[in-house]
Amino acid sequence: MRVFVTGASGWIGSAIVPELIGAGHQVIGLARSDASAAALTAAGAKVHRGTLDDLDSLRSAASASDGVIHLAFEHDLAFSGHFQRAADADRRAVETFGEALVGSDRPFVIASGILGLAPGRVGTEGDEHDRGPGAAPLIGGAQTRIATARMALSLASRGVSSSVVRLSPTVHGKGDHGFVATLIDIARDKGVSGYIGDGANRWPAVHRIDAAHLFRLALEKAPAGSTLHGVANEGVPIRDIAEVIGRHLDLPVVTISPQDAGGHFGWLAGFLAADSPASSALTRELVGWQPRHPGLIDDLDQGHYFHQESA
Ligand SMILES: NC(=O)c1ccc[n+]([C@@H]2O[C@H](COP(=O)([O-])OP(=O)(O)OC[C@H]3O[C@@H](n4cnc5c(N)ncnc54)[C@H](OP(=O)(O)O)[C@@H]3O)[C@@H](O)[C@H]2O)c1
Repeated sequence: MRVFVTGASGWIGSAIVPELIGAGHQVIGLARSDASAAALTAAGAKVHRGTLDDLDSLRSAASASDGVIHLAFEHDLAFSGHFQRAADADRRAVETFGEALVGSDRPFVIASGILGLAPGRVGTEGDEHDRGPGAAPLIGGAQTRIATARMALSLASRGVSSSVVRLSPTVHGKGDHGFVATLIDIARDKGVSGYIGDGANRWPAVHRIDAAHLFRLALEKAPAGSTLHGVANEGVPIRDIAEVIGRHLDLPVVTISPQDAGGHFGWLAGFLAADSPASSALTRELVGWQPRHPGLIDDLDQGHYFHQESA
């Protein structure tokens, strides 16, 4: 297939590109800068220059493809206090891809998140992000992202083979600059490795290379309207993560009260407090996915997170 990939130069995208090319697909990656374009060319992909805001350009790239994988998200904007703006741009891009693909039966795979899915119990692919009356959103704009995923799935009834890959909050591996790398930076900065309350709350986790494989399977095999879970570890207690970090950095491992969490962890606090274990049993059955790479604690114990420059 000729696959148009947004976010192809990013953390997960740069693992998906070789995964797709290795399976015989052709990749056309969206690039917003010379550096991203050069990285895509070096990886063997073709380059489509543009940004998420160039909707005409996104439409023509999607129309010329046999399938689309949408990963780009303005994290720089989102995690500097403008999550809603990033989520709005994402929604417009997904709407545009949807319009371009209606009636084509071509695959359209988007990335989304699991966190907050079924607080306090193991969430499944059949669950919806319905946090109940009065539940505080994890971050402003998160509801928009959830609505965007629903909209993508609804395209299945209009002749688009759409699927949503809900990713664990940590897609880990060598070179990670996401939540776990940020937690390590905070521990270094504060001189303690912290968790909130008793730290028994859990995050699911998946290795980046396993996640990349899942996106390829979604493109090739997922039935229209499927929700898939990028989950290898169902739920790793945050306290276990803090303990490995403390051991590797030789720092005390301490509890931080919920009241002090915002001051200590900054924007990460809301995410770090979530108890959001999730299963991928249905995903494994549906597309034959089998994660093979190290789990989160083993990956942290390999030491590479502690030798890299902070993100
Ligand atoms: N990483 C995780 O643990 C995780 C967990 C849950 C969900 N997700 C979701 O998975 C997807 C991929 O995440 P990631 O970690 O790979 O993200 P990432 O490393 O931050 O990469 C983001 C990608 O989007 C591109 N991009 C950002 N703004 C753009 C714009 N305005 N126009 C065009 N391209 C733009 C970036 O291009 P440049 O290379 O030019 O910067 C980069 O290729 C995202 O939707 C993310 O929210 C990730």
